Amino acid sequence: MYKNIKFEIREHIGYITINRPEAMNALNMDVLKELKHVLKKISDDSEIRAVIVTGEGRAFVAGADIKQMKRYNPVRGRQMMTLGHEVMDTIDEMPIPFIAAVNGYALGGGCELAMACDIRIASSKAKFGQPEVGLGIIPGFGGTQRLSRLVGKGWAKYLIYTADVVKADKAEAIGLVQAVVEPDQLMAEAERVAGMIASKAPIAVAAAKTTINDGYDADIRTGGRLEIEAETSCFGTRDKGEGMAAFLQKRQPNWENK
Ligand code: CAA
Repeated sequence: MYKNIKFEIREHIGYITINRPEAMNALNMDVLKELKHVLKKISDDSEIRAVIVTGEGRAFVAGADIKQMKRYNPVRGRQMMTLGHEVMDTIDEMPIPFIAAVNGYALGGGCELAMACDIRIASSKAKFGQPEVGLGIIPGFGGTQRLSRLVGKGWAKYLIYTADVVKADKAEAIGLVQAVVEPDQLMAEAERVAGMIASKAPIAVAAAKTTINDGYDADIRTGGRLEIEAETSCFGTRDKGEGMAAFLQKRQPNWENK
């Protein structure tokens, strides 16, 4: 069904693989449209509890497609950046957690895709950067905003102004990624983390994601109020009764997602 991505579901985990290895998985309009489509499918599927995003071949994603953007005037450029933002924001805002399994280059739009995900796990061979100013543009899929929020203004400005590309261990040191593993362990580690998430109460995980995101850009009192409201609705779920009963009865919970 898709030409530029692969999608499958196994044991409550969705797997999206960007599949244009001949172009280092560069995000052109077709890839972005397919991502938009698959994200809608994921949001309609109540069985999926976590999603892993990765890239086929040597790259995670080496950015937006430079061959396509070279031809674009400001009108087309705006269309592309708007679609890119829509895709990244959908990942960021969807209640289901997304894990980026960064297998190789995560540059420009690729770094932005990884940053839109909730958690980043990198292969020791992965490289990160926002090289756009070397092309006469700036990060356009959310990088100027998400990078500074993830690593602070100083590192964001360093990476964006210099277009420096950093290795996985440096990305981990500045807080851009949560873990670095050997390349052959990458998917196993991403699956381990996704599996931990999938084993928890889905409504509670979704409430946690939404509350962290919504509270992050608000003041702490507003964030605290959002937390009280989200917690209150968790108290009304069947899964809250089940989770606490399972703890007290020393057994595994059986989530019903309600
Ligand atoms: N767009 C289009 N094609 C790309 C691409 C991109 N972002 N990145 C790589 N490719 C293509 C190359 O043009 C090449 O195609 P051909 O075989 O037709 O020449 C093929 O992928 C393989 O790439 P290389 O030969 O360059 O492979 P390499 O191993 O020597 O280098 C690389 C790999 C370091 C990732 C290098 O390809 C590179 O620097 N890519 C561009 C990175 C970049 O600048 N990204 C930012 C894009 S702008 C952006 O993303 C804007 C935004 O925020 C939305």
